[in-house]
Amino acid sequence: MKIGVLTSGGDAPAMNAAIRAVTRVGINRCCQVFGIYGGFQGILDEEIHELTSRSVSRILHRGGTFLTTGRSEEFKTEEGLNKAARILLEHNFDALIAIGGDGTMRGLDALSRHWDGKLIGLPGTIDNDLFGTDYTIGFDTAVNNALDALDKIRDTAEAFSRTFLVEVMGRHAGFIAFHVGVSTGASAILMPETTTTMDELAEKVLNAKKRAKTSVLVVVAEGDELGNADTIGKALSECIGEKCRVSVLGYIQRGGNPTHFDRLLATRLGAYAIECLTRGEHGGLVGEVNGQLIMTPFEETWTKKKPIDQWLLGLLDDLSS
Ligand code: F6P
Repeated sequence: MKIGVLTSGGDAPAMNAAIRAVTRVGINRCCQVFGIYGGFQGILDEEIHELTSRSVSRILHRGGTFLTTGRSEEFKTEEGLNKAARILLEHNFDALIAIGGDGTMRGLDALSRHWDGKLIGLPGTIDNDLFGTDYTIGFDTAVNNALDALDKIRDTAEAFSRTFLVEVMGRHAGFIAFHVGVSTGASAILMPETTTTMDELAEKVLNAKKRAKTSVLVVVAEGDELGNADTIGKALSECIGEKCRVSVLGYIQRGGNPTHFDRLLATRLGAYAIECLTRGEHGGLVGEVNGQLIMTPFEETWTKKKPIDQWLLGLLDDLSS
């Protein structure tokens, strides 16, 4: 079997671990594995190179993606999809494994209507916003990166008894904000999955101060409906009569050595993708739900929504009291 592997969309720590598992397990199951560089655009530009077990040496511990990534506009068009299908056919590919987020799953779904080969998606995004897997590859590392930064911000916040708003990534999802917020003891977490008004936020912060808290942290998901941390920080400063400090963590969340959890998840999912292909199973996202490796049809990965833990959500005020 001739298999192509690519990474697409935002890079995520441990994408490399997934590529390594796909390559080595694939080769040891008598497959030929080809790396496609630069995401879906790499198919159109024919940036296709055979991988050996040695090609994926020394990448297990590295963030980013050695195949490089991209967000191709050309690939989304009818012409682009037809061209990609023609190139995959000309290269005699039997299967394609793409590692990425919801945009990547949409890309695979669209390609399935143009190409007869076997398609499998692996969940690689720090946002954790794919249905069909409890966790996406890279999420745990991003949360730990943000947590490390928040612990440092807590030190300086305590030294001055200050209020800080810290913006984390996640695009339209609040998983990073929620996990980081709970783990750092934030007084409030603003995220797209919940609605918090400015008055409610001000009340939470003032209550924390009344309870003699020496510092107040508010975690803001970049996709929150109230706006970005800067805008919210200015409005909150007015409401509570104290200048709030704002810190936007940005891209440092996406880089760095992947955690043990992400390396293991990526390795399991990469190897499972090959097992699925050799069994003749394809056409969906490979993920882990309740410890079981499963496949979910591409479309469900973005049409169905993975909920934030409602029980823990209900405990936030107790935990930060
Ligand atoms: O989807 C991953 C992600 O890092 C989001 O959290 C963020 O909103 C987005 O990508 C940033 O995209 P770009 O790398 O194109 O700036």
